Amino acid sequence: LAVHLVSSFFSKLQEDPTKKVDRFLYAMCLHDDQLSDISTRFQAEMKKGLSAESNAAAAVKMLPTHVRCTPDGSETGQFLALDLGGSKFKVLQVKVREGMRMRRGGVEMEEKTYPIPRELLEGRGAELFGHVSESLKDFLHEKNISLEKKHPLAFTFSFPCEQSTLDRGLLLSWSKTYRARGLQGKDVVQVLREAIDKTGGMHIEVLAMVNDTVAAMMTCGFEDRYCEVGLIIGTGTNACYMEELCHVDLVEGDEGRMCVNTEWGAFGDDGALNDYITEFDRDVDAASNNPGKQIFEKMVSGMYLGELVRLVVLKMATLGILFEGHVSDALRTKGKITTAHVAAMEEYKNGLKNTRGILMDLDLTPSPDDCVAVQHVSTIVSFRSSNLVAAGLAAILTRIKNNRNLRTFRMTVGVDGTVYKTHPQYPKRLHKVLQRLLPECQVRFVLSHSGSSKGAALVTAVAQRLASQKRK
Ligand code: GLC
Repeated sequence: LAVHLVSSFFSKLQEDPTKKVDRFLYAMCLHDDQLSDISTRFQAEMKKGLSAESNAAAAVKMLPTHVRCTPDGSETGQFLALDLGGSKFKVLQVKVREGMRMRRGGVEMEEKTYPIPRELLEGRGAELFGHVSESLKDFLHEKNISLEKKHPLAFTFSFPCEQSTLDRGLLLSWSKTYRARGLQGKDVVQVLREAIDKTGGMHIEVLAMVNDTVAAMMTCGFEDRYCEVGLIIGTGTNACYMEELCHVDLVEGDEGRMCVNTEWGAFGDDGALNDYITEFDRDVDAASNNPGKQIFEKMVSGMYLGELVRLVVLKMATLGILFEGHVSDALRTKGKITTAHVAAMEEYKNGLKNTRGILMDLDLTPSPDDCVAVQHVSTIVSFRSSNLVAAGLAAILTRIKNNRNLRTFRMTVGVDGTVYKTHPQYPKRLHKVLQRLLPECQVRFVLSHSGSSKGAALVTAVAQRLASQKRK
């Protein structure tokens, strides 16, 4: 009987389609020890990026943002804002009202999304910025905003920039879908000002440029004073946090804090994650716009999750583990599985039905077991992403804890990005794993609604408040 039970147990195991996926993708299923190890490695990278001696060679750049404090709620003003580098390019008018901190409506906005033609993402930088300033002018017309008056403008630019002040930033490199020529090493604020002048007929004063992570932190910080971390899990991924100024070697002064844009997407560019990288990560990297760059981002963010799933499914089909070995042209085509598909496959009730529909649209004829298996591939890939983000966040929070000599503490993370906002299970998984990795920290995640757009205006408002306090 015992033998019979054991053998029927194993044959059941073999029947379970998720088990064969687990075996096939064991390298993507990271357990807590591995995540703690990744977290420790990231802490070392942060140190390397902050120190003046090692910064030049560091993969994780730890860029000073010149944002020295989060909002206190007394900020006020009316700003134009540009948001470039996320999934959409937007122009906005943002009104920040004093004394409205705790109430919704403290920040009012009107916005319009402008599509960016593909040629511009890959063409000359000056043309890209020409489009940006033309869109700004169109927005002013459409919203009946005076062309005579001078308008302060805040610019969210979601790429790594070396900033020596709030209104100056040299582009270090492009990432995600952007690769316009002639901008690397240039001050993007200056390029924007020149483009606005060239378009003509507007009075615009560009006051600040911020990364989207910083914008997310500031937006959320307007309502929650414990928010000192900003996180983006969208087309790309990145995080920022408030660091002690005395640790930011690249900026003079020792008093107070400064927000540091970690640019954690580049974690692993120097090989630090090589033993966690799978053949699928290598393939995604090789076929990308920027091979060898943004290794962590390629394991985590929305631009790549669907592609990772596609490559795994393709390989399993080629090996005869799925679809009885049948492979379609669509399945062989880059980009045919997107992050939106990944989210749909993991929907609570309709996940399996969605998976079947998606596979049929790829000209495949999946069996019920194939659908379960592919859904599980998607789960493993997206779970690995949230696990890696949890490891990165645990590193940042541990750093803050050590900086401040705390044993336990609470922290709010302002978060934005399509993956976090649209994947049905992502937030819950991320919160759970982070809690396990760092039980001593009580973390609250706050969705920073339109954070990347609003936040730039708030940075400008804070800078103006500080300047006027100084004058008093
Ligand atoms: C990329 C950019 C980074 C940005 C992130 C999220 O990683 O390099 O600056 O914050 O995408 O948009």
